[in-house]
Amino acid sequence: MKTIRFGLIGLGLMGREIASAVARWCHLENLDFRPEITALCDSAPPPGRVDWFRQHFPGIRQVTTDYRELAANPEVDAVYCAVPHFLHAELYTAIIGGGKHLLGEKPFGIDQPANAAILAALRARPDLVVRCSSEFPFFPAVQRLFALAESGAFGRIIEIHTGFLHSSDLDPGKPINWKRLVHANGAYGAMGDLGMHTCHFPFRVGWTPRNVRAVLSKIVPQRPDGKGGLVPCETWDNATLLCEAEDRAGTRFPWTMKTHRIAPGQKNTWYLEVYGTKVSARFSTKNPKRLDYLSYSGGEQTWQEIDTGYGGAAFRGITGDIFEFGFSDSILQMTAAFFHEIAHGRPLSAAAGCVTPEETALSHRLFTAALRSHERGTTEVV
Ligand SMILES: NC(=O)c1ccc[n+]([C@@H]2O[C@H](COP(=O)([O-])OP(=O)(O)OC[C@H]3O[C@@H](n4cnc5c(N)ncnc54)[C@H](O)[C@@H]3O)[C@@H](O)[C@H]2O)c1
Repeated sequence: MKTIRFGLIGLGLMGREIASAVARWCHLENLDFRPEITALCDSAPPPGRVDWFRQHFPGIRQVTTDYRELAANPEVDAVYCAVPHFLHAELYTAIIGGGKHLLGEKPFGIDQPANAAILAALRARPDLVVRCSSEFPFFPAVQRLFALAESGAFGRIIEIHTGFLHSSDLDPGKPINWKRLVHANGAYGAMGDLGMHTCHFPFRVGWTPRNVRAVLSKIVPQRPDGKGGLVPCETWDNATLLCEAEDRAGTRFPWTMKTHRIAPGQKNTWYLEVYGTKVSARFSTKNPKRLDYLSYSGGEQTWQEIDTGYGGAAFRGITGDIFEFGFSDSILQMTAAFFHEIAHGRPLSAAAGCVTPEETALSHRLFTAALRSHERGTTEVV
């Protein structure tokens, strides 16, 4: 069993989520590697947060408010970094410079120049595994969709739809936070927050956006500042994109992409729909074990509803094959995929590989073109 010493930077929402996956490592079977959390960093951790970590992870030997100290710690092999977007370039390049493998968060740089700076730092350290977090493709139904795409089962792609829909911002009384301020979250708004999630599958199977027409919406113009006043809510709430995408054979098809923070009725709905001349398939985390599947070779067109279970996950777990799979399972699978690549020098499979830095660069090209498209009212080349 290879132990990989793991440091966490940013102990907020996602820092705890990844830590919980590490604590649940016993859930996965037949692995010859395991992470051990040895170091923590947060410049201003929420009250009680460090105690929570110490209580659950006795291997912690460093707690610091300065990321440079963690990046220089020889007792850390790999880092998960989940901090506000404006800090990605500074912290990710320091972590890479310190010789640590990195699982960073999306959008992997607040904008295109920040993303380019991260990729430039990486060119000097090709020995490191540097990946971007995106967990939904680890749902077993989506793993099956990868297999369909890789085998060419869809036939000619007619169109695809991807999206990520929230409604947490529907309440205009929700106080402002860093995710609604351009200097901290970035000009991409909802695309920066949710967009990488909607690109992971298409990019990985070789479906590349060539141009985009974007419509961006600001729905709630101001929010409470938490001190009795109101402040501008600066970022785009919703982004609706229509792309012309191209597969590896050069065939083009439409791709609609929605990243909405204000989508009534949706809590954390990630979906993927692929319509092909031979096979069509649809999945949404709203019904997390349901895969809709239609195979057409003449005659009636009949949708089948397939129940997928934990058995279709990339990394085998102790959960029985027929039981349901959920959000925290997808985080565990993604974390296993990251450490598998460190331990074995390659991903378990293309479908079970985390987002690469090159894929994040393509997402930045797309979102930057989408900003131009909305501003000019034109279709922009990606
Ligand atoms: N993969 C997902 O499903 C998912 C979900 C939510 C957020 N995210 C991403 O995770 C990242 C963090 O989001 P979050 O929701 O966890 O945010 P959060 O606000 O809950 O936590 C961020 C933490 O970073 C800390 N921090 C700020 N500056 C720091 C610094 N200089 N050094 C060290 N720590 C610092 C803050 O004190 C805070 O505790 C973002 O990139 C976001 O897009 C991913």
